[in-house]
Amino acid sequence: MKYIHLPMNVTKVLLLVALTALTGQALAGIRPGEIWPDTKGQHINAHGGGILRYKGTYYWFGEHKSEHTSNALVGINCYSSKDLRRWTPRGVALGVTDERGHDLERGCVMERPKVIYNERTRKFVMYFHLELKGHGYDAARYAVAVSNKPEGPYEYLYSSRSCPGILPLEFGPEEQVALDSLNIDDYKEWWTPQWRRAVAQGLIVKRDLQGGQMSRDMTLYVDTDGRAYHIFSSEENLTLHIAELTEDYLHHSGRYTRLSPVGHNEAPALFRHGDTYWMITSGCTGWAPNEARMFSAPSIWGPWTQHPTPCRGPKSEITFGGQSTYVLTLPDGRHIFMADIWRPKNPIDARYVWLPIDFEDGRPVIQWQSEWEL
Ligand code: DGJ
Repeated sequence: MKYIHLPMNVTKVLLLVALTALTGQALAGIRPGEIWPDTKGQHINAHGGGILRYKGTYYWFGEHKSEHTSNALVGINCYSSKDLRRWTPRGVALGVTDERGHDLERGCVMERPKVIYNERTRKFVMYFHLELKGHGYDAARYAVAVSNKPEGPYEYLYSSRSCPGILPLEFGPEEQVALDSLNIDDYKEWWTPQWRRAVAQGLIVKRDLQGGQMSRDMTLYVDTDGRAYHIFSSEENLTLHIAELTEDYLHHSGRYTRLSPVGHNEAPALFRHGDTYWMITSGCTGWAPNEARMFSAPSIWGPWTQHPTPCRGPKSEITFGGQSTYVLTLPDGRHIFMADIWRPKNPIDARYVWLPIDFEDGRPVIQWQSEWEL
């Protein structure tokens, strides 16, 4: 028997033709900002999401959104895929309840869910931003759920503010003396130079010390040594916190640091490239897009340095109309930037921006492309 060796690109085309014939539909690339049908033909409903890779399958977790409200009427959805292009709905990983007064009472806010796998406990651990029904964004809590299977169902564990009674790692004796002199009642007016200095020194950390630090927009990150971190907007969204998780990933360990005090960052997405940690965030303009920010550090504990936006091309000054949610690192080391184009008047119609991250002069660059292939 004779084998014919075809050039790689011819093989690719033949494979695509065969797949098209089998599935009956052309396999388009990834189209940022367009409707993204799942394998049942419905626009994917997994907003503010994140991706877990487990045993060769990708799991996409995100907020279920409905037509008239951004509040949680269903819960956290899960989709799975082998190729990151075709996503199969796997149902609701963690649902709301009709029990009155429950943290997850239908109508609460469940945002930016992320799932990580703990190799020691063999559990899948979900964190998300929780706001209690009828209380706007005042609760500012993170919530934790756990499952034995990637797709769930997840068992709800608890919600909390972060690290009650504990100061950030960098607060030594000198910082504590400065903190002692601060009084929240002396700073009623925001954005004055004095107020900025006081917030940077820990005015709001002190205000919230007893009950725990606020925890809103968030992501999770597992480092190469297996340690995991919860990164979230704290202190009235003015300062980001990076909190180390316990070995089982179910709680904050109590070690945390502050990043960009008074920088007003939301939507953190953290990834590592070589020995450098990179973080992409947004400003705080509600559901409206703004210019992405970028930070880097030689260690997760800092020091963090700010850089210009990594976005390039049309609408790069407003992150292509989107807001960062996650950076997925592939097994070969490439990274994919994920963002949401929110549609607050019809939340279910919100779109996804997925774009590859390239490196120029050692810095991440995200170039707009209307269609691309992995
Ligand atoms: C911006 C945040 O990034 C979103 O997750 C959401 O909380 C909206 N604000 C609410 O206005």
